[in-house]
Amino acid sequence: MIDPRISVIEERLKGVGRIIAVSSGKGGVGKSLIAATTALILSSKGISVGLLDLDFTNPSSSTILGAGPVRPIEDKGMIPPKIHGIEYISITFFAGDDVMPLRGEDVTNAFIEVLALTRWGDLDYLIVDTPPGLGDALLDLLRLIRRLMFLVITTPSRLSLETVRKLLALLHDVGAPVIGVVENMLINDSASVRSEVEKMGARYLGSIPFDPEVEKALGNPKKLSETRFAARLSEILDHALKAT
Ligand SMILES: Nc1ncnc2c1ncn2[C@@H]1O[C@H](COP(=O)(O)OP(=O)(O)O)[C@@H](O)[C@H]1O
Ligand SMILES: [Mg+2]
Repeated sequence: MIDPRISVIEERLKGVGRIIAVSSGKGGVGKSLIAATTALILSSKGISVGLLDLDFTNPSSSTILGAGPVRPIEDKGMIPPKIHGIEYISITFFAGDDVMPLRGEDVTNAFIEVLALTRWGDLDYLIVDTPPGLGDALLDLLRLIRRLMFLVITTPSRLSLETVRKLLALLHDVGAPVIGVVENMLINDSASVRSEVEKMGARYLGSIPFDPEVEKALGNPKKLSETRFAARLSEILDHALKAT
C-alpha cells in the first residue's frame, strides 16, 4: 500500500530550493556542528535557510544553536519556529526525547511524519542533519526526499574514510548528487585525505582544523560564528555552493 503521506512530502518541500544532507556514515565526525553552523552562516548572509535535524539518536542541533524549548506552531501541519533566522525542525518535536531507541519501522514513520507535516517557507536552502549509519535510515531519506544532495564529512582518520568510501559508493549507485567531501577536525596537515577522496571520484572541498574554541561556543551562535571553525567552514561553503 502506498502511504498517502508520501505524496504530500514533495508538496511540503516545493518552496525549498536546494536540500542538502550533511552525512558521513559515521558518528562523531562533526555532522551536527557543520549542519547547524552552515545554517547560521547562510542565514547571516541573508540567505533563507531551514535546518532539519533527523538524527533521532543524537539530536544535537538544538544544543548547538541554544534553541531552548521551542516548538512548531500547529496550523494545518507544523510551522517551524525561527531560531536566529533559521526555520528549525528537529525530529524530537515529533518522536520525543524518549530514551527507547526507535526501531526500523518507527524511524521510517517518524521521518514521514516530520516531512509530511512540516510547512517550510520559501527557502533557498534546507540543511538536513542526518543520523549515522548506511542502513535503513539513509535509504528512507533517499526514498522520501528525492532532491537530496549530499555534503559528506570525514575526519582525517582512515576509519572515517573507509566509511565515507562506502557512503560514496552507495550514493553513486542510487544516483544521488554529492557536492563533495569536507575533512573535519584536522590536526596535522597531510595531503593523503585529498588524494583518497579524489580517487573515490568525489570533490575534496577542503579541511577544517580541530578548534578548541568550539566547545565553549556551543549554544551561543554569535560566539560560534566567530570561531576559526566557522570562518573556515564559511570559505568552504562559498566555494562549494557556488559550483553546485
Ligand atoms: N572542527 C572541530 N573542532 C572542534 N570540535 C569539533 C569540530 N568538529 C566537531 N567538533 C566536536 O566534535 C563532537 C562531535 O561533533 P558532532 O557534530 O556531534 O558529530 P556528528 O554529528 O557527526 O556525530 C562535538 O563535541 C563537536 O562539538
Ligand atoms: Mg550528529
